[in-house]
Amino acid sequence: MSNLAIKPNITPPKMTKSVKDLAVIILAAGKGTRMKSSLPKVLHKIAGEPMIRHILKTAESLKPSKIITVISEGMDDVKAAVAPHPTAIQKQQRGTGDAVKSAIAELGDFKGQVLVLYGDVPLVSKDTLEALINHHRLGKDLGATVLAMAAPDPTGYGRIFQNGDGTLNRIVEEKDANDDERLVRLVNSGLMVMEGDGLADRLERIGNKNAQKEFYLVDLPTIFKEDDLATGVIRGDFTELKGVNSRAQLADLEALWQHRKRLAIMDDGVTLLDPHTTYFAADTKIGRDTIIGPSVIFGPNVEIEDNVEIRAFSHIEGAKIKSGATIGPFARIRPDTVIEQDARIGNFVEVKNAHIKEGAKANHLGYIGDAELGAHSNFGCGAITVNYDGQKKSKTIIGDNVMIGSNSSLIAPIEIGNGAYIAAGSTLSKDVEQDALVIARAETKSLAGKAKGKLKS
Ligand code: UD1
Ligand code: CA
Repeated sequence: MSNLAIKPNITPPKMTKSVKDLAVIILAAGKGTRMKSSLPKVLHKIAGEPMIRHILKTAESLKPSKIITVISEGMDDVKAAVAPHPTAIQKQQRGTGDAVKSAIAELGDFKGQVLVLYGDVPLVSKDTLEALINHHRLGKDLGATVLAMAAPDPTGYGRIFQNGDGTLNRIVEEKDANDDERLVRLVNSGLMVMEGDGLADRLERIGNKNAQKEFYLVDLPTIFKEDDLATGVIRGDFTELKGVNSRAQLADLEALWQHRKRLAIMDDGVTLLDPHTTYFAADTKIGRDTIIGPSVIFGPNVEIEDNVEIRAFSHIEGAKIKSGATIGPFARIRPDTVIEQDARIGNFVEVKNAHIKEGAKANHLGYIGDAELGAHSNFGCGAITVNYDGQKKSKTIIGDNVMIGSNSSLIAPIEIGNGAYIAAGSTLSKDVEQDALVIARAETKSLAGKAKGKLKS
């Protein structure tokens, strides 16, 4: 993972907060209209996993005593996505301050620090959040600390103004800012940590006299100031604090996630021949000295051991692939597949719900579905398992050291014994005994001279 440009701009005097306990509130009540979707924004996926799950995992890594997600009414699927962590419902979206207020009942009488995260800022790192919390805990008389960032284009963000000692003077929302204020590029990421003790009362004191008639969380520093508490400012890296408001921004964060994952995977000892074209899922696991060719895509639930070779243009999901196996180029491995040691799946072979045993081969053009291919067996070019009769799926079980001749069709349910040899072009509808040689095709007839005149010249 990249080094983060965290530069605390003041050196806070040492003073630890009396209560060191963390609660996290994740704001996710926003409908995300600009996504133009029937799905709540935070359920849109990055690396195959809903955004909210990314931020939830990062929040969990901080080991807080509570994580409360603020949702709006009817967002049951978001509630399910964060379970068993609790949710709080914000009845109307009246601003970020009001959203935090909705979580107060669930927060109870919490006296530690409250970290506010956004469900649509999913890739903020644990390091950055720890830096924010530490800055706050070590600061003198800080009621809150905000995470700021230098934005290449500050449009849409709240602008941050600091006092001479680096503490926060004020945050001015874009819509409330004058022309001079809008020139400022230091902006509010929205993420903030604050003292929980007395928070409920302070939130009540936030008003909505502003351009949007909303209850702004960014007005909390003013309330703290009335109580002689300052607000700290720490800077984070703009890239990781990016939010998602549109599909284009979603694609942007997907790219960022993939970039980080590629670096992490290579760091773990995996060779990526063309990293920019390899796509991982959130849970992809790959062992050392595995080599991955260009344009390989991993769907969810893939585990690959050491010393595997995945050649170009392969698509793999829901599979476990063991040491020494070779996959592709152009292979498609579908869910519930296990490929054992030293097995080979070659080009244009599709494998689904199958167990390919040690040293078995299916090198060209085939379909192996709902099947077992025994150890050291050879599944010839163009052979297929006929697993579906239009109503139900059936199993094909192929023993060890079996030869399935090219272009054979194995009509399931069917079992082929160890050591059997199936002649090319066979269509099998009956079980085969072990060591049997089976030829199940029409015999070749050759009629001398009869071809003449058959083809118009
Ligand atoms: C907010 C900040 C702004 C900051 C920006 C960073 C305020 C007033 N402004 O802007 O300073 O630069 O974030 O992106 O805090 N949400 C709710 N309920 C609401 C409103 C929002 O749950 O009533 C949630 C949204 O789902 C989202 C987050 O809060 O996850 C931020 O809301 P959004 O409307 O994007 O923030 P802004 O007001 O634009
Ligand atoms: Ca926003």
